Amino acid sequence: MKVAILSGSVYGTAEEVARHAERLLNAAGFEAWHNPRASLADVQAFAPQAFLTVTSTTGMGELPDNLQPLYFAIRDHLPAWGGLPGGVIALGDASYGDTFCGGGELVRELYAELGIREVQAMLRLDASESVTPESDAEPWLAAFSAALKA
Ligand SMILES: Cc1cc2nc3c(=O)[nH]c(=O)nc-3n(C[C@H](O)[C@H](O)[C@H](O)COP(=O)(O)O)c2cc1C
Repeated sequence: MKVAILSGSVYGTAEEVARHAERLLNAAGFEAWHNPRASLADVQAFAPQAFLTVTSTTGMGELPDNLQPLYFAIRDHLPAWGGLPGGVIALGDASYGDTFCGGGELVRELYAELGIREVQAMLRLDASESVTPESDAEPWLAAFSAALKA
């Protein structure tokens, strides 16, 4: 199964988590592909069968600049990805209160518009609680892999 991994990152943490996810999903037998600067054409050329988005939050609940062009291109074109499975890993900081993991929530809304099915509840990685987001994501990624194979 071809899994497109999309990532949004300001300082590189979410990108590291996305790279780790790519390694783990490939080791689990998936064909995972990650390009932090992917265009909509790049994603469509890969012909994904599932989606994983790993994104941090910046500003007041906004998506990082490197993910915004792809996010808006997908929202404008609404590619025919309805029914495909997906998941979201959101990085944030709970001290931001109401906008905690807001970037991830924007991606969930986009999935809903596209008809992408979240096969597992969004993972929220809180930078105020932990400094090991890659290893913290491992149990979630194992469950996500199992859900994709089910
Ligand atoms: C300027 C700035 C604004 C932020 N705004 C939010 C926010 O609104 N909500 C949130 O949950 N985290 C927010 N964060 C926390 C980051 O999302 C968090 O530190 C994350 O781990 C950074 O990942 P990155 O290195 O991939 O960008 C903000 C961080 C900075 C520096």
